[in-house]
Amino acid sequence: MKFFIDTANLEQIREAQDMGILDGVTTNPSLMAKEGISGDAKVKQHYIDICNIVDGDVSAEVISTDFEGMVREGEALAALHEQIVVKVPIIKEGIKAIKYFTTKGIRTNCTLIFSAGQALLAAKAGATYVSPFLGRLDDVSTDGLNLIDEIRTIYDNYFYETEILAASIRHPMHIIDCAKIGADVMTGPLSAITALLNHPLTDIGLAKFLEDHAKTNK
Ligand code: E4P
Repeated sequence: MKFFIDTANLEQIREAQDMGILDGVTTNPSLMAKEGISGDAKVKQHYIDICNIVDGDVSAEVISTDFEGMVREGEALAALHEQIVVKVPIIKEGIKAIKYFTTKGIRTNCTLIFSAGQALLAAKAGATYVSPFLGRLDDVSTDGLNLIDEIRTIYDNYFYETEILAASIRHPMHIIDCAKIGADVMTGPLSAITALLNHPLTDIGLAKFLEDHAKTNK
């Protein structure tokens, strides 16, 4: 399972990269705004900075909602760095744009997926990744994991190569459940990733090992 971090915060990206387990980064306009990154030149430089920290794919989202605008923006983003994956919303113009990018060899991440039908269309258009928003479905009392499961079944039925990028991860159990279902990638906050480390028996066991070592190595 690939681990992506869902942030535009360079410090957190560096921390995850330093752990040696990071496979990529996802961003969105809200995450860029949270870091105070605005203006075309600054946004583009920020994507380049992220690419220079991490070894894997970096999703950069288009803002346009029409085909021509998405193509213009997506081509400019893809030209920034070979690690850039163009993130496109699942709307009709978005599907057209993903198909266009596919034929041009530009990799895409189809975002804002909330149904299996949307994921099926994204795969047919040739999306590299599809991003079902697990946590946001859970937030409205709908089983987000069930959507991941449905998409896994459909993609396996037809051997679609589109990777399932479980997004909107909120906590470590989401990561574990997605791994059990067979999501190809998960993207979440650093806190959800590092929470996978936690177990009280590990803390107790380590404290005891260190104590016993200290007793005999005075
Ligand atoms: C996906 O790529 C999105 O950036 C993200 O996972 C959305 O997560 P949120 O629901 O926590 O905003």
